[in-house]
Amino acid sequence: MTMPHNDVAAFHDLLRRITTASTTANGTPRPARILALCGAGLSAASGLATFRGSTASLWHTRDPIKLATPEAFTADPGLVWRFYAYRRHTALNVQPNAGHRALAALAKGLPEGSFLCLTQNVDGLSPRANHPPESLRKLHGSLFDLRCVNVDRKTRGRPRCDYVVQDDFSDPLCPALSTAATGVDETAAASGAELPHIPVNELPKCPKCHGLLRPGVVWFGEALDPMLMVGIGKWVAADTIDLMLVIGTSAEVYPAAGYIEEARDAGAVVATINLDAESPAGLEALKPGDFAFGGSAADLLPELLEPVIGMANWK
Ligand code: OAD
Repeated sequence: MTMPHNDVAAFHDLLRRITTASTTANGTPRPARILALCGAGLSAASGLATFRGSTASLWHTRDPIKLATPEAFTADPGLVWRFYAYRRHTALNVQPNAGHRALAALAKGLPEGSFLCLTQNVDGLSPRANHPPESLRKLHGSLFDLRCVNVDRKTRGRPRCDYVVQDDFSDPLCPALSTAATGVDETAAASGAELPHIPVNELPKCPKCHGLLRPGVVWFGEALDPMLMVGIGKWVAADTIDLMLVIGTSAEVYPAAGYIEEARDAGAVVATINLDAESPAGLEALKPGDFAFGGSAADLLPELLEPVIGMANWK
């Protein structure tokens, strides 16, 4: 049933209004400013599990969130590497969906600098959908970046080795991770088998200092890249924001979730696109004037963004 919060025609009117030439107080043209915050739900239709919500899943009966910490890596780097080897493999073996493509088309359809897409996803699917890199910020890093963990205590945690590599799509990364990468571990775990311990010397090694490599993702308890944060902060503070798209995220993890209120404070109408957006809890959280569209981001984004991206077949 169409209600004010899920009225597609009203959303289209808003999108048309803000994206057709408006002017500033002194009469100069002012492009629309749209911010998006994406989460795991954007990639759910591609076949990747979410962390929370109705499509959440476990890895080997373990809570994935408990493996995404520096403490878990210190305690058992082999176990954490198995988890990331599996995630790298699964991400490489699915395809970007219509939601990723619609957002990439939105970025291409708007004037440069007027759309910023913040993604918490590390799966590489937005880049693979050809989302222009200048309007995409990977808040939590990437499964396909690797960096050295060789840290010198005397330098108070500053890295002794600065080795970083981006977009390394090797699968598996090393022989010890081949069963994790190909899903053999999954089958073993399902039958109740213990996962064999992988010694550190069999894990991915830094080619520069021979130390241990780690996934280039942000773990719980770690800070986001300060340069990235400064850049986003400048964009947010530069002017009024017209629209905030909150896509497939539980918006429980900060600082990412904080951008929703920052955008609202900067004048934005907030539109949530999420499988659970119209659940009783979702509707209770709605503020006057907000939009909430309950459903798959892969179905909804092409429809909602149509005034900018057109009516092509995004499937
Ligand atoms: P969550 O798993 O917390 O939330 C995913 C959201 O997507 C839920 O609200 C689901 O209802 C919704 N959803 C599921 N399928 C959907 C679909 N097809 N279309 C639209 N929505 C759908 O994922 P994030 O919010 O991304 O961080 O989680 C934030 C961070 O917590 C992640 O980046 C990761 C995680 O632990 C780190 O690892 C640091």
